[in-house]
Amino acid sequence: MQQETVRTTAQTTPEWWKTGIIYQIYPRSFQDSDGDGVGDLAGIESRLDYLADLGVDAIWISPIFPSPMADFGYDVSDYRDIDPMFGTLADFDRLVAATHRRGMKLILDFVPSHTSEQHPWFVDARSSRSSPKRDWYVWRDAKPDGSPPTNWISEFGRPAWTWDEGSGQYYLNIFLSEQPALNWRNPEVQAEMLDTLRFWYDRGVDGFRVDAITHIAPDPDKGDHPPDPNWQEHMDPSYRYLKVHSKHQPEGLDFVRMMRRVTDSYPDRVLIGETDGELKAVMTYYGEAFDAFQLPFNFTLLNAPWEMAEIVRRIETYEAALPDGGWGNWVLGNHDCRRIASRAGPAQAAVAATLLLTLRGTPTMYQGDELGMESAEIPPHAVRDPWEKQVPGRGLGRDPARTPMPWEKGPTRGFSDGDPWLPVFVPAGGDVAAQRADATSLLNYVRALIALRRETPALTLGTYETTVAQDGVFVFTRRLYGTVFHICLNFTGETRLCPVKGEVVLSSRHGSEGGAVDTLQLAPDEAAIIKAA
Ligand code: GLC
Ligand code: MG
Repeated sequence: MQQETVRTTAQTTPEWWKTGIIYQIYPRSFQDSDGDGVGDLAGIESRLDYLADLGVDAIWISPIFPSPMADFGYDVSDYRDIDPMFGTLADFDRLVAATHRRGMKLILDFVPSHTSEQHPWFVDARSSRSSPKRDWYVWRDAKPDGSPPTNWISEFGRPAWTWDEGSGQYYLNIFLSEQPALNWRNPEVQAEMLDTLRFWYDRGVDGFRVDAITHIAPDPDKGDHPPDPNWQEHMDPSYRYLKVHSKHQPEGLDFVRMMRRVTDSYPDRVLIGETDGELKAVMTYYGEAFDAFQLPFNFTLLNAPWEMAEIVRRIETYEAALPDGGWGNWVLGNHDCRRIASRAGPAQAAVAATLLLTLRGTPTMYQGDELGMESAEIPPHAVRDPWEKQVPGRGLGRDPARTPMPWEKGPTRGFSDGDPWLPVFVPAGGDVAAQRADATSLLNYVRALIALRRETPALTLGTYETTVAQDGVFVFTRRLYGTVFHICLNFTGETRLCPVKGEVVLSSRHGSEGGAVDTLQLAPDEAAIIKAA
């Protein structure tokens, strides 16, 4: 009997990554400490109190490894060191310790699908066809007419094959030609890359977000991609063909399982996957035995038009698709897409933040979204993103979501003593210092929301149910044992009545909390959380 009780208790203590909030740091743009205009590790360390005060549980830092920066760190030339631009291994160890001291976790970005063309492995591989590293990458002969082996198009819009004059073959690159694809079917590649995970876990890292995982096992021997009948000339060129032989190949899941086994050999670590694609494909990344990603990223709201019916439909579809025993998660922004405050409109930023932080599943919040930062207009001379440079003028560039954090008064808003690598923009609600001082700011609302979430198990562990979805009012209910919370969201710019009873525990309209309501009146664009009586 006693033993039964003990076991039950152990089972109901949820892992930190189920109840916690993950905050994504784009390190180039968080805080610069040395005046070179690019953010760095010491800069992050100096702002940890901001994050602790915001109340997030974990930070995920985009790549900080040595890199020629063709894709701003997603082209790694050494997996086991820190780029001098960001600091040193000693700075990193200090950052891990300082993060842990504040009770937070630190997650790194793992970029397994490709290296930099300047990685010594690739330099060796291209030096000759008989290089011992040759098979670490994906090489194929040209067709008899000299053209590439398949019609595949890279994610950044050019042919996915690059001709290597010296060795007389094409190599595969799913992203830039500066990012040759690694051949994970080679056991030496597997062993080396899995050891990389151990290297960082041994240094105290709490988990990894695994980059471009859907592209880890391309199979060029399957041949050309069929054209997508829905594709039109003005669209993203990489979608011209259906990527049936390059994405979501079955071996990819085996490789994730290998990463998971390493992860599970350390206590309390988490593996998160950049799993873009159809919901059905995304769900496979849990692994049938839940032996792959604990959190395959859920991007279903990332590209959704901000229309209530569509948002509700996507939430319900995701909830229904989650396998029994799979823990969900939500993402509203990252360094690759338009800012949520621009997609939803700045007035809806609080509604969006409320959704992210109260839906069932782990939220990942992108830096600056707590301030309502918008996608910036980047003047042509300031463009840095290689994607925008390769396929200009189609709105594909990612610089707009990567501008530096505006902290306080001053020429660069406290981001850097030098010349920032991208221009600094201040959101309508003001920089961090201004928003902290303003009781009605989005930042203070998000802080209060996080604090409420932390003290309310129903908001993390409770069930989800759609309660109202009409006239631009969306109410969903989170329930845990006897505790019931209604999350009420006004997607319109007009006042709406909302049929819920209880106490208003939090509202995006500062000062309207506290009262008991029989029918809630929602102000335009208001988000409110009601504790049912
Ligand atoms: C992922 C990253 C993106 C990068 C690409 C190639 O999609 O999020 O920023 O360009 O992978 O590594
Ligand atoms: Mg710097």
